[in-house]
Amino acid sequence: MGIHIEAKDGSIAECVLLSGDPLRAKHIAQTYFSDSFCYNEIRGMYGYTGYWNGHRVSVQGTGMGMPSFSIYAHELIEGYGVKKLIRVGTCGTICERAKLRSIVIAQAADTDSGMNRSRFDSYSFAPCASFSLLQRAWDLAMEKKLDAVVGNVFTSDQFYDGKIEEKVAIAKSLGALAVEMETCELYTLAALKKVKALSLLTVSDSLLTLEQVPPLERQVAFDEMVTLALETFFD
Ligand code: HPA
Repeated sequence: MGIHIEAKDGSIAECVLLSGDPLRAKHIAQTYFSDSFCYNEIRGMYGYTGYWNGHRVSVQGTGMGMPSFSIYAHELIEGYGVKKLIRVGTCGTICERAKLRSIVIAQAADTDSGMNRSRFDSYSFAPCASFSLLQRAWDLAMEKKLDAVVGNVFTSDQFYDGKIEEKVAIAKSLGALAVEMETCELYTLAALKKVKALSLLTVSDSLLTLEQVPPLERQVAFDEMVTLALETFFD
């Protein structure tokens, strides 16, 4: 048992989907998994294990932002032997290529977070996806004719205020496709702990036009990405 995850040993699968919103984790388990059970309720950060097409799989809520995300990913890997993690999240587009409802497959992450500065001092680590997971997700997305794009994302520490506009301008000038708040930590932990990780992100809003996917439609766009993530694990 960890401090934030109360699952019994052996009750979390080697492949785990990660959702910022714990209620989305519950929705994923109820919609996609058979024989599922809830292994974590601490802080309402639900985690479930079940089966998808006969494969054992889990889904865990992480909360928003790198520090919260880091706690759950750390305990999954160190405490429960998780080997493959796919984040299924949302992002705000900052480019023409990624449209509302597109799926961004995050190749690597820029960040303004202090976490890696505190870990590595002046050493600038390049947090990037597992190539095998990324390649599989991309091939599947093309096969299924999904509106998917591969590129870098900007993992921001702030949703509001700060110097977010100036930072987004830098991210955009360096070719980042979208803004979100967790991928940099996922890719850094994967490198440190020798596991495989990928971030898939549905575009829920645009920082260019300020449009948003309406809440009711969000689930449909999100579900397409969850299926892609599960197929990427088990194809
Ligand atoms: N900013 C940061 N994170 C996000 C956004 C955003 O606009 N949209 C979805 N996640």
